[in-house]
Amino acid sequence: MSEIPDESPLLELPPPRSASGPQSLEMALSRRRSRREFQPNPLQPEQIGQLAWACQGLSEPGGLRTAPSAGGLHPLRLHVATWEGLFEYLPDFHALRVRSRKDLRGGLSRACPGQEWVGRAPAICALSADPTRVFRRYGTGRGTRYLHLEAGHAAQNLLLQAAALDLWATPLGAFEDSRVSCILDLPEGHLPLYLIPVGTPMRRPGQP
Ligand SMILES: Cc1cc2nc3c(=O)[nH]c(=O)nc-3n(C[C@H](O)[C@H](O)[C@H](O)COP(=O)(O)O)c2cc1C
Repeated sequence: MSEIPDESPLLELPPPRSASGPQSLEMALSRRRSRREFQPNPLQPEQIGQLAWACQGLSEPGGLRTAPSAGGLHPLRLHVATWEGLFEYLPDFHALRVRSRKDLRGGLSRACPGQEWVGRAPAICALSADPTRVFRRYGTGRGTRYLHLEAGHAAQNLLLQAAALDLWATPLGAFEDSRVSCILDLPEGHLPLYLIPVGTPMRRPGQP
């Protein structure tokens, strides 16, 4: 059971920038790199909102999103863990639902054996999936493949958006599934797929 009920208040995020930003896609592609040292300062709501939108936000009325989804079933869920707590991104509202007011980054880090750097990230994004409708339509074999493909699309969006915001982010797959599921308080059957620690670069933006 979640410590915070589903009726918990929504934290509205600043509207995402959906037109051009300061960096081109080509620059973001060139600059994206897996980096594991971050400044300790927290991310701003604008940054978290922009990352969440790039990953799973709505890009047109009617519910279609920035990342493609097999059959438009949209099984992915995005959580963000910061020093302020654990939050679930709600694409339809471009808002965060509070899931916990505890700092769970240490627990997430310990669920990634030998990767203590994870706990030093100001924000840890977590992609998980509710497989129910995907398995019903595509079966468990192809359905599992589709869930992993979708997580890759969504994660790459987030990684490129991070690069475009002069943030560092690293995709991370080596974690203990059951511990991550427990920390995120995922419903029975949901699958944790990817963790993406994000933060401000240790070095000056623009330096490799
Ligand atoms: C599916 C997948 C899982 C990964 N898991 C981890 C991980 O557990 N820990 C980590 O530090 N990096 C992880 N990475 C990042 C890779 O180490 C990184 O992408 C690789 O070294 C290439 O560097 P680049 O991302 O800067 O191009 C993962 C990358 C992918 C695609």
